[in-house]
Amino acid sequence: MLFKPFHRIEFITFSNLILIFTISFLSIVLTGCTSTPEPQFTEVEVTKSQINTVLENIRNRRTVRKFKSTAIPKEHLQEILDAARFAPTAGNLQPWKFVVIQKRQRLDSLKAILQDDWQRTISNHKDLNEDQKKRYIRDGKIAIENVMTAPVYIMVFVDSTVYPDCAVHDGALAAGYLMLAARAYGYGTGYFTSYFPDEVIKSFVKAPENYMFICCTPVGIPEEWPDTPPKKALEEFIVFDKFPE
Ligand SMILES: Cc1cc2nc3c(=O)[nH]c(=O)nc-3n(C[C@H](O)[C@H](O)[C@H](O)COP(=O)(O)O)c2cc1C
Repeated sequence: MLFKPFHRIEFITFSNLILIFTISFLSIVLTGCTSTPEPQFTEVEVTKSQINTVLENIRNRRTVRKFKSTAIPKEHLQEILDAARFAPTAGNLQPWKFVVIQKRQRLDSLKAILQDDWQRTISNHKDLNEDQKKRYIRDGKIAIENVMTAPVYIMVFVDSTVYPDCAVHDGALAAGYLMLAARAYGYGTGYFTSYFPDEVIKSFVKAPENYMFICCTPVGIPEEWPDTPPKKALEEFIVFDKFPE
C-alpha cells in the first residue's frame, strides 16, 4: 500500500522518458535528413565583390577637414560607435569611453575654446617672430573653424589605469574601427590630436583624471572628398623574414 503511489509515479516517469527519447530520436533523424547543417563562418563563401567592398572602404577612408552641416541619423551613429566596440584590446579589457558631442551650442563653445587656446600657444612660442605668429594664428583659427563644421564629434578616451602600457594602442584601434565604419556610411572622419589639446578636451568634457584622451574625430559628410595623399609603395614597408644586415 505504502509503495503503490511511488510505483505509479515511477511508471509515469519511465513512460515519459520513453516518449521523450522517441520524439528526440525521430526529430534528430528527420531534421538530419531534410535540412542542411548551418555553415560554419569560415565555410561561408565570401564573394570577390564583398572583399572589394571592404578593401575599398579601407582605401577610401580619408582625413576630412571641412564638412557639410547635414545631420547624421541616430542609427548610423549608433552603428559607427558599435563598430568601435569590436576593436581588439589588450586582455580584452575594453577600457574605452567615447564622448559624443552633437549639440551645436556645445560645439561652437568648443570651437571658441580651441581657437583661443591655439592663439595663446602660438603667442607664447619663443621661436617665432611676430609675422610668423600672426600667420600661424590666422591659419590655425581657419583650420579649427573648418574642422569644427561637422554635426558630430567623438572623443576617444581610455582608462589608462586598466592596462597602462596598452592604453594608446587600445584607443587608437577603436578610433580606427569607428573611422572605417563611418566611411562605410559615406562619412568623413579625422584622427585629430594637435587642434584638440589633451587638457583642453579633458576639461571640456569633465573627464576623470584616469582617462587618457586619444583623439577626436568629427563624423560628417565632407564638403568635398580630398584626394588620396601620397602613399608609399607597399614594397617600402615589407620585410620578409628579417631586416637586411
Ligand atoms: C596619430 C595621428 C595624429 C594625427 N593628428 C592630426 C592632427 O592633429 N591634425 C590633422 O589635421 N590630422 C591629423 N592626423 C591625420 C593625418 O594627417 C592623416 O591621416 C594623413 O595626412 C593621411 O591622410 P589620410 O588619413 O586621408 O590617409 C593624425 C593622424 C594620426 C594617425
